Amino acid sequence: MKLAARAGRIVPSPTLSIAATAKAMVAQGIDIIDFASGEPDWDTPESVKAAAEAAIRSGFTKYTASAGIEELKRAIAEKLAVEQGLRYDTSQILVSCGAKHSLYNLAEALLEAGDEVIIPAPFWVSYRDQVLLNDATPVLLHTSEADGYAVSHTGLEACVTPRTKAMIVNSPGNPTGATYDRATLEGIADVALRHDLVIISDEIYEKILYDGARHWSIATLGPDVAARTVVVNGVSKAYAMTGWRIGYAAGPKDLITAMANIQSQSTSNPSSISQKAAVAALQGGGAFTQRMVVEFDRRRRLMVERLNKMPGVSCRMPSGAFYAFPNIAGVFTRRHQRGPITSAAELAAYLLTEARVAVVPGEPFGSSSHLRLSYATGIEVIARGLDRMEAALRQLT
Ligand SMILES: Cc1ncc(COP(=O)(O)O)c(C=O)c1O
Repeated sequence: MKLAARAGRIVPSPTLSIAATAKAMVAQGIDIIDFASGEPDWDTPESVKAAAEAAIRSGFTKYTASAGIEELKRAIAEKLAVEQGLRYDTSQILVSCGAKHSLYNLAEALLEAGDEVIIPAPFWVSYRDQVLLNDATPVLLHTSEADGYAVSHTGLEACVTPRTKAMIVNSPGNPTGATYDRATLEGIADVALRHDLVIISDEIYEKILYDGARHWSIATLGPDVAARTVVVNGVSKAYAMTGWRIGYAAGPKDLITAMANIQSQSTSNPSSISQKAAVAALQGGGAFTQRMVVEFDRRRRLMVERLNKMPGVSCRMPSGAFYAFPNIAGVFTRRHQRGPITSAAELAAYLLTEARVAVVPGEPFGSSSHLRLSYATGIEVIARGLDRMEAALRQLT
């Protein structure tokens, strides 16, 4: 069977497939420590579950408006107004099956063959493949670990061509855990305004911040910036609701309407029950998120401190999200019984077989000299996994 060319351009989400491999090994009784999954280990808050139960019991189990129920859109508009000072009419908001789905609808509504999208690297795996799926070209803007993965004004300007349509801003970022300060965002906004670019601002980790870091939505930099920005967010990470699949986009009305039309012809509405649950999360989940972030912070410190003591490894302290992104280039001079380690993928494979620790190699994020380890797992599990990882690294000669 001849498949569409676009299907051959992409790979299955590497983070999801590594996490699935780790989970399958656990199911077979193999003692794997999973640092690969990109989701909070916390259970969804009780108040959110209660709202979902009430939705089921009251028969709120039918199709809803395809772009989401007004009640949830109003809760999102209220959140954006109160927390960010951003004003959106509910017609400027689309509720989707996760932030990933909002981003996909956006790529479909915006991109055509020949268009270019600037993606700061290292980047979250799906940005590149969603651009490719829509016949456009991802242009990677490489950022440096030494500069805290900040996007420089000149670096960004150098990536712009007459075909550049949009750029991605992801702060706090996956996989680096870096956050952009206001000056960085002002530089990005300046380039976007001068070259008429759409800004895709993925703010899914906005509430997971440490050491007093502050989240700035780039859309707050002025009405002219907001008019070309689509803010993407959701409830997955902040309220431990990855399985409920609720995300949203807020932005210019014509673009959101096009995205909503695409959604109406593809998935229709996200689950009616999950939408009611998301209202409860947005309206009453703040204290839950704060408690979770305090715990993530303890784990972050432990993980980064331990990684920095391992031979050949150095790790920046992330200021947001729940990932450590250690540089493992120092391991590439070493070898195990079957040969040398020359890439992050080889080191990840070695750690899985030798240490039974699942980590994500940096290659799919755009770096062959890093690993991504999630610390969204219990602190004892983290300590045990890092013991094993360190022992495996010390065996290398
Ligand atoms: C940067 C980033 N954006 C978006 C998503 C998608 O989140 P959702 O579960 O809302 O689809 C993820 C999930 O890992 C992510 O890391």
